Amino acid sequence: MSGRIDAVLGMQWGDEGKGRIVDWYARGYDVVARFGGGDNAGHRIEVGETKLALRLVPSAALHPTVELFVGSGCVVNLEGALDELARLAEVGVDISRVRFSDRAHIVLPDHGVLDRAAESARGEQRIGTTGRGIGPAYADRVSRIGITLGETLDESLFRSRLRAIRSAHERAVPEPSVFPDFREMEDRLLAAAARLRAAIVDGVAYVHDRLAAGKRILAEGAQGTLLDLSFGSYPFVTSSQCTAGGICTGLGVGPSAIGRIIGILKAYTTRVGEGPFPSELHDAAGEHLRAAGREFGTVTGRPRRCGWFDAVAARYAAALNGAHAIALTKLDVLSGLDRVGIVTGYRRGGSPATLAEAGSPDFAVEIEYLDGWNEEIGSARRLGDLPDATRRYISRLETLVGVPIELFSVGPERESLIRA
Ligand code: IMP
Repeated sequence: MSGRIDAVLGMQWGDEGKGRIVDWYARGYDVVARFGGGDNAGHRIEVGETKLALRLVPSAALHPTVELFVGSGCVVNLEGALDELARLAEVGVDISRVRFSDRAHIVLPDHGVLDRAAESARGEQRIGTTGRGIGPAYADRVSRIGITLGETLDESLFRSRLRAIRSAHERAVPEPSVFPDFREMEDRLLAAAARLRAAIVDGVAYVHDRLAAGKRILAEGAQGTLLDLSFGSYPFVTSSQCTAGGICTGLGVGPSAIGRIIGILKAYTTRVGEGPFPSELHDAAGEHLRAAGREFGTVTGRPRRCGWFDAVAARYAAALNGAHAIALTKLDVLSGLDRVGIVTGYRRGGSPATLAEAGSPDFAVEIEYLDGWNEEIGSARRLGDLPDATRRYISRLETLVGVPIELFSVGPERESLIRA
């Protein structure tokens, strides 16, 4: 095998600014591939006047020669995918470069209904999902009743699988009338599948042919490590593998194909949805981060919860991913704070604790404060352009996480991404 797969992954609770970091690294690759998640993700990219909001299509859409692949570990809402492709085509993106693995599963309208019903049944214990049916779609895959994209190509097979999955869903709810009309849904899905047909490929052959031809693939993470199904803040997580381990199972490659892992960390922490968040702020500093960082969900519009950089969680995430380097985003958002906090330890009843214990009442965090800075840093183009206090902050994060920071961002433009 002569090719190699590198990766760019979020290492917090999502929303680390992955889209533009992938866009930055993508210039060195032939293919950018998503390996998990669905349209619960929302990646924004701005280049000059062009602004893209991507949900499923990998974030290299603005690199005209890079192929874009939605891998086997993803779940695809057929109509949502077509809408996204149409929006990209409208702004001049060549969408013939987008391919979907035949092994990716489809997200049905039923899954959205089940997702929202499960959330309201959970009441106080709700996860705060995006409501896009991601959890139920993955649950059906694990239950071996899901439908793959490849199966949509055989009309009679698809009809019988759809009938079976609807029956299973009807058995799972007290009131089957919550689901959309079956015939109408079947017709719409078949029409959507027919329009997507040319983009559906043998997902395993797609990846391995390119690796054999020496092409370079960049795996693009969705959500973030702390939302990973296995290692995140369970049960307040998404239903897919967001860590580097998910690249193997989501693209169908062995660990020997994986090269460099770049972990993205925002210079502070945010979380959208429920669940433990040790460094959360409920004060003016938290408001500052939300307003200056425009921290509102891309998919749901919800205000994001904001807090200090959590070095304990970041170190945990770096270990889970085997990160070789860090891209640090949104450093400019911290300008204007008198002091900047970093969570350096978790404690419970006086003893060191882990993220898994974060919900307990006697859980507390240790915070180290550094001097803040008032200067606007958005026009910095080199590390040396930054105020001393900002450089001390970067260096402290690097020491605490134990992984070199190779890139940082001070604004939304491509030019405000700087090599450290
Ligand atoms: P689900 O993925 O819609 O099932 O939502 C599960 C949890 O993951 C919720 O807390 C969501 O807010 C969160 N989540 C899912 N996708 C993203 C994302 O792209 N960014 C941030 N949070 C996300």
